[in-house]
Parts: sequence; C-alpha cells; structure tokens
Amino acid sequence: MPDAVKDALEMVAAWAGRPVSHTTIKGGLSHHIARVETEDGDRWLLRVLDPRIAETGLGIPLDQEIANTVTAAATGVGAQVLHELPGALILEYLEGVTLDAPAVRDRIDDVAAACRRLHAGARFGNDFSIFRKHDEFVTLCRSAGLKLPPGYEDWSPTVQEIEDALAARPLPTVPCHNDLLPENFIASGRTVRIVDYQLSGNNDPSFELGDVAAEADFTPDQVDQLTYAYFGDGTHAPRVRLNLIMSNLTWTLWFVVHHGLTPQHRDFDYNAEAADKFAQAVRDLTDPGFGRLIDAVRR
Ligand SMILES: Nc1ncnc2c1ncn2[C@@H]1O[C@H](COP(=O)(O)OP(=O)(O)O)[C@@H](O)[C@H]1O
Ligand SMILES: [Mg+2]
Repeated sequence: MPDAVKDALEMVAAWAGRPVSHTTIKGGLSHHIARVETEDGDRWLLRVLDPRIAETGLGIPLDQEIANTVTAAATGVGAQVLHELPGALILEYLEGVTLDAPAVRDRIDDVAAACRRLHAGARFGNDFSIFRKHDEFVTLCRSAGLKLPPGYEDWSPTVQEIEDALAARPLPTVPCHNDLLPENFIASGRTVRIVDYQLSGNNDPSFELGDVAAEADFTPDQVDQLTYAYFGDGTHAPRVRLNLIMSNLTWTLWFVVHHGLTPQHRDFDYNAEAADKFAQAVRDLTDPGFGRLIDAVRR
C-alpha cells in the first residue's frame, strides 16, 4: 500500500475518532480508492489523490478536482464531500450498484437525467475541451517518446475538420464530467449518481453525451435515444456522434500516456484498451455516413 494511503487512513481514523477498517476498491484506474468502515457501521469512501495523475495531464489539477467535486456534490448528483484531508477526500459512501456498459444502455433516461442535473448546477472554475486534450496528449506522447497506435496521426486533419464543424454553431458550455464511463455511475433505484471528477470542466454538453455513448458502446439508435432524453429532440444527434468519435480517439491516448508514464499502475492492460478505443474511432471515421455528420453540424 502506498504511504500516502497509509497516512490518509490514519487521518480518517483521527477524523472519525475511532478505529477504521478498509477495503481497497479495485475499479479505480488512477487514484487510490477505498471503502472505510467503523465497527459501529459507518462507512465512507476515501479517495487518495495521486499527484502523478494531474502532472501527466491524465487529470485536472488536484485542487481543481476537489473544488469541482464539492460543486458537483451541491447538485445532489455527486457524493457529498464530508472532509478534505491533505491530498485526499472523505466522501459520502453511495449505496447502490456501480453500472457496467449493458446497465448504462438499459437506463438511458436515468443517465440523461443525471447529466442534466449536473449540468444545471454551478459552473466549474475551469474549462475543458476534448480537442485541447487531444493536442496535449499528442504533444506529450511525442516529447516522452511514447508510441502512438500505427496510423494515429493520419487522422489529425480530420480532427481539425470535426473541431471546425462543431465550432460553426457552438453550444453554450455547462459544467461537465467529461469521463462518464459506466463505472463512474452509481445507481440506486432510478436515481443515478456520478463520481470521479478527475477530468471535469465546463464543456459542450454534446461531448458529455458522446462520451457516455462511446464508453458504453451505444448503437446509433441508442445515441439518438440519449440525445432525445437529454435535449428533448434529435437535432444534436450528429454533434453527439462526432463527439463520440473524439472520445474514442482522445481517450486512446489517455491509455497510452497512463501506460507509459505511470509504471506503478501495472495491474491493468492499458495498451489493449488503447488499441480497442482506436479501432472503434477508425470504425466510425471510415463509415460512409461520416461526411453527413460533418455536413449536418455545419448546417
Ligand atoms: N462515493 C462513492 N460511494 C460508493 N462507491 C464509490 C464512490 N466513489 C467511487 N466508488 C466506487 O469506486 C470505483 C472507483 O472510484 P473512482 O472515483 O471512479 O476512481 P478512479 O478515479 O480511479 O476511476 C467506482 O467505480 C465506484 O464503484
Ligand atoms: Mg472512475
């Protein structure tokens, strides 16, 4: 166990005023996450922030992540922040089920409602653009000598084309999570809560939806369903689809960077995940309908 986690657990016991036991939660690919319990049945979620995640651009600066976690808690969609420790957070433990991809596909309306609730809250103190993140990762991979998937940079002009098309009629930005993989949703009944504000920032809401769809392998019909549930009509479905592609393309590099620059996290096959995401992006970029998406958002 890293020293930072040991120290944090001691601070939790001091805060709680009684001994605590803990169970490491595996799902966390970046920070150190544990469920902490007292003998009399109180439980909390301890999130020990790994500074290397922000240093490598895999997450936003830790202070910003903490501030955004507090903002998201105020909407009711994030877990309540019970206490801030140096480099760690004690959060409300959300009783419920962590979603997986099929579960997200089964509860598209509930997921859309959770996004709307987050987006209707106070703005975050930082902005987020998937295009700037893409450029940042490409530059970082070059300077650190990390190998991009073969053919990755051939798509750079297309990325520019997507950015220009989306910028023709931009949507107002809202406080977005930007990393809505199924494991960041926790459901209790019809209510879906959202955890893990590692990449949060104000952004185009159609990226949020495209990212949900990419991470849960939505069919085009399911993308339409999510778009309707969120916006009330299907106008922005092409926008969501282009962002779905950008999610797969950019988060490909998230895994390349994670693999290359955080060697302590070796319990997960980051390179296989990168290859899988890139293949999904290429599938959509080479689809005969791709040009129609660009035309539709430009119009
Ligand atoms: N407040 C919480 N209450 C209950 N479970 C949580 C809470 N926060 C996170 N989890 C569980 O821990 C897992 C990993 O946490 P997360 O914050 O997403 O870490 P990471 O940044 O490493 O992905 C989640 O997928 C979820 O199952
Ligand atoms: Mg997570």
